[in-house]
Amino acid sequence: MTHGVLDREDSYLIDTLRLFAVIGNSVEMFDRARAGAEAVDMAWPVEAVRNVAIAGMGGSGIVGDLALGAWRERLRHPAAVLRDYYLPGWVGEGTLVILSSYSGETEETLTAASQATERNALCVAITSGGKLGSFYRDLGVPVIDLPPGLQPRAAMLQILVPLVVVLGRMGVISPPDAELDDARRVIAASVEGLAPVVPTDQNLAKQIALGLTDVVPVIWGAEATAAVAQRWKAQINENAEMPAFWSVLPELDHNEICAFGGTSELGPMTQLVFLRDPHQHRQVIRRFDLTRELVAPRVGGVIEVAADGDTPFGRALDLTMLGDYVSMYLAIARGVDPGPVEMIGRLKARLAETGHGRSQDPA
Ligand code: F6R
Repeated sequence: MTHGVLDREDSYLIDTLRLFAVIGNSVEMFDRARAGAEAVDMAWPVEAVRNVAIAGMGGSGIVGDLALGAWRERLRHPAAVLRDYYLPGWVGEGTLVILSSYSGETEETLTAASQATERNALCVAITSGGKLGSFYRDLGVPVIDLPPGLQPRAAMLQILVPLVVVLGRMGVISPPDAELDDARRVIAASVEGLAPVVPTDQNLAKQIALGLTDVVPVIWGAEATAAVAQRWKAQINENAEMPAFWSVLPELDHNEICAFGGTSELGPMTQLVFLRDPHQHRQVIRRFDLTRELVAPRVGGVIEVAADGDTPFGRALDLTMLGDYVSMYLAIARGVDPGPVEMIGRLKARLAETGHGRSQDPA
């Protein structure tokens, strides 16, 4: 493969679902999502909220981690992202449960929705329709509508922005206007600087993608970039159809670091990507430096990227946009159509052969 592949217009014909056009439209999508969520009648009083659960899978779940990661030490209530068929015992009448499913058909989220309703939780749905949309609309629960026809992971901003607006309106975080403005600015800069028309020698996303085509990417983040590492990994899996892994500092310094300390012949097949934020805890900054010193001789290479932005949310989105572009360029460079996710569809179809209601209560 020559480096020119990402600079040739015809290379992008393989993108049948036009993911590059969708990401190129990010600022408009961001504005529409923000205005739409601000206009929805929330129904629930702010004082009723004691804790928060965000239920969602895949592209509809990562938004929860990105939001909670960016606000983690500023959250006014305990909050968790749930990816399971069962809700934990603490979810009840004082829980703001945000049901996030782009399609509205994801069985884990639908099961969580019916349990949350049984427990009289304060539910809000974010969906383009499906069973989730009709279930809640019939119950008079707030539903934030998403535009139809997208891949869920490509609708990340349309799901994330309303989530942040809802968290602000329900008093879980302080009004997020400055963070949203900052995010909009970094997103606009990413779309301008990372688009396919920007040639490889000036395009960081293309350069990173070309370094990952025949290795196993391992993405390391910390604090607000932990969820971003998870997003990079999932985007590489789904868009480029490649194995990829993610991990988080400081935890990885207590285990995963050992994978690169010995004589394993697998180390050189690994390309590490560090997602750094210059505002992180000074020991985290040192950990990135010191960990790199120790592992660099035993891996294929280390790429470091530093987030730009004035707020934690803006910085997280700066690196998220970069990862999204990297994963899509990686697909193009490998001759893969970045849109379809056939394996996910096949598995969902098999699962749908039986009902997904509760078959038994947990022991
Ligand atoms: C596909 C994708 C998946 C879905 C997941 C849940 O583009 O990103 O990870 O997000 O299968 O489906 P939804 O989002 O419809 O609830």
